[in-house]
Amino acid sequence: AAAEKGGYPYFMLKEIAEQPKAVADTLLGRLQGGSLSLDEVRISDDDLRQVDKVIVIACGTSYHAGLIAKYAIEHWTRVPVEVEVASEFRYRDPIVDRDTLVVAISQSGESMDTLMAVRHARKQKARVVAITNSNGSTIARESDAVLYTHAGPEVGVAATKTFITQVVACYLLGLFLARTRGTMYDDEVRSVVRELSDMPEHIDTVLDTVEPVRELARSLAGARAVLFLGRHVGYPVALEGALKLKELAYMHAEAFAAGELKHGPIALIEDGLPVVVVVPSPRGRSVLHDKIVSNIQEVRARGARTIVIAEEGDEAVVPYADTVIRVPQTSTLLAPLVSTIPLQVFACELALAKGLDVDQPRNLAKSVTVE
Ligand code: G6P
Repeated sequence: AAAEKGGYPYFMLKEIAEQPKAVADTLLGRLQGGSLSLDEVRISDDDLRQVDKVIVIACGTSYHAGLIAKYAIEHWTRVPVEVEVASEFRYRDPIVDRDTLVVAISQSGESMDTLMAVRHARKQKARVVAITNSNGSTIARESDAVLYTHAGPEVGVAATKTFITQVVACYLLGLFLARTRGTMYDDEVRSVVRELSDMPEHIDTVLDTVEPVRELARSLAGARAVLFLGRHVGYPVALEGALKLKELAYMHAEAFAAGELKHGPIALIEDGLPVVVVVPSPRGRSVLHDKIVSNIQEVRARGARTIVIAEEGDEAVVPYADTVIRVPQTSTLLAPLVSTIPLQVFACELALAKGLDVDQPRNLAKSVTVE
């Protein structure tokens, strides 16, 4: 078993470290000569042009990948995207027809809630693209097309490398749709493709510089709760950071859209409460950046201990951050591929500091095959 873990004490640590390769493998063969090839999306161009709505369905961590997909797909294709937890989807009589593209995201391809949602969607004549890491899984077999993530087997119950590769697959699908529908020029697609191919290296950089995150996590092992804040794609990243902490460290962890802070959650802030803030690039949507900097200021003024995940070179956060965690510069939409990594490490290390088994958290199963 020690050999299987590649020298790491836990699969999860190994799987976190494998993320650069998982991303590279998921891109392999799909980015050719700077352009995009996704033959596996076996839905005709005409049908893809007819699509008037995308609905993403998934559970748990896969749902968070879906939330990120919404920002990218809507921005690139101008098609409305809904994201819904699979267990809610079919019970609300969703509006689905042959012009709906359903994207079912499931690492295992076996989650019963997601499978039932896929069956419901197909009964209403929607086309279903599955994004999964499991070859020949039930959801893969029952969908019209499959976009496989090539993360390799994931043993740790808490998803890490499969999440990151799901996000990559969502970007690829979004770009493919945009190109097919003519909402993005070829050179725009190429420029995102180029940035995607740099991501394994950026993730490597994050992993190489993550040691301070481990120290920080150990120092917070006694905290009663941790809050996470984010905006735009940083919001799903915050949700994922909080979920990881619940799953692994059994800690009360909540994520909020930073703009909602003033509408309630700010009442939770008290002296010493750790608040992790995922900050968008100051270079992209600078309005968002400025707003989140004021949020950091606000929670700190009320006593929060601020832990800020910010891009390299973003100096504006420094005066209000108790700790700054740096990630490489990326475009706004692709930032989750780097900003999620420190949050995985944070949750994992905090759980280890509490003496917990990060591969087998209590009460959880890797794949839930009951509704
Ligand atoms: C379980 C796991 C989660 C996972 C969720 C969805 O609850 O504990 O880590 O995110 O299922 O799994 P799937 O295989 O459909 O992505």
